[in-house]
Amino acid sequence: MKIAITGKGGVGKTTFSSMLSRMFSQDGYRVVAVDADPDANLALALGFPKDTYDSIVPISEMKNLISDRTSADTGSFNKMFKLNPKVDDIPENYCKEYNGVRLLTLGTVDSGGSGCVCPEHVLLKRLCSHLILQNKDVVIMDMEAGIEHLGRGTAQGVDAFVVVVEPGERSLQTYRKVKKLGKDIGVKRVFVVGNKIRNKEDEEFIMSNLEDGESLGFIYYNQDVINSDRSNQSPYDVSEETRKQVKVIKDKLMELQTCNA
Ligand SMILES: Nc1ncnc2c1ncn2[C@@H]1O[C@H](COP(=O)(O)OP(=O)(O)OP(=O)(O)O)[C@@H](O)[C@H]1O
Ligand SMILES: [Mg+2]
Repeated sequence: MKIAITGKGGVGKTTFSSMLSRMFSQDGYRVVAVDADPDANLALALGFPKDTYDSIVPISEMKNLISDRTSADTGSFNKMFKLNPKVDDIPENYCKEYNGVRLLTLGTVDSGGSGCVCPEHVLLKRLCSHLILQNKDVVIMDMEAGIEHLGRGTAQGVDAFVVVVEPGERSLQTYRKVKKLGKDIGVKRVFVVGNKIRNKEDEEFIMSNLEDGESLGFIYYNQDVINSDRSNQSPYDVSEETRKQVKVIKDKLMELQTCNA
């Protein structure tokens, strides 16, 4: 299963990505969690100890790796370099592992406008493509907020976009945009997780905005989840109740995955 978690800023993408990754790992799957947000913080949500967290170097900043694999220096735009750099060993050798989840932090590519062809971008795109199309592990990508970056294609080929929404019009608008963009780049399935839910009315509001079969379920607003963020704990470790809600979502995702396989 390869999924990209998307949605408006602050809706809970990283919280959900981390909990889902932990849960798959707990259930015995090999999991690669990909932090595809330039403002990377998935490691914190996965509960990585501070020294490990501090030692993380995003792939896009690994200058030697990039120039070695692409035969070009980083930051060299439109010069000659390999368009098919070797990447298959990167997930294994350049990830950080904790609680059974292997984390790859992609970092920022200074794209220099759309249609960027710099060595960093080529390497990252090929790495993602390898993870999505060839790697056998469960891959969960925590994406940058919004939709602009989705056109860059790092998530191309995923089985589904999972859009996290809150019970409000603004995040639902982002969901509609993601859905349209998903179609444009060939991601057929778009599912929705309602987060920060307070009551049945919130659930109904979200459901009334979705098509049949799109909802994976709901995660209720939980003060313990916020507190976990404040104390640098993994939200997975703080609330049995929220874990149960994420389990329902995970089971539904797997059921839909099998149905459509
Ligand atoms: N179910 C929940 N109950 C309470 N607080 C939540 C819940 N889910 C997420 N939060 C809180 O909302 C805030 C934003 O969450 P998170 O960082 O996961 O969002 P995000 O979509 O990844 O944000 P960004 O767009 O900045 O990457 C955090 O403080 C988090 O603790
Ligand atoms: Mg985030």
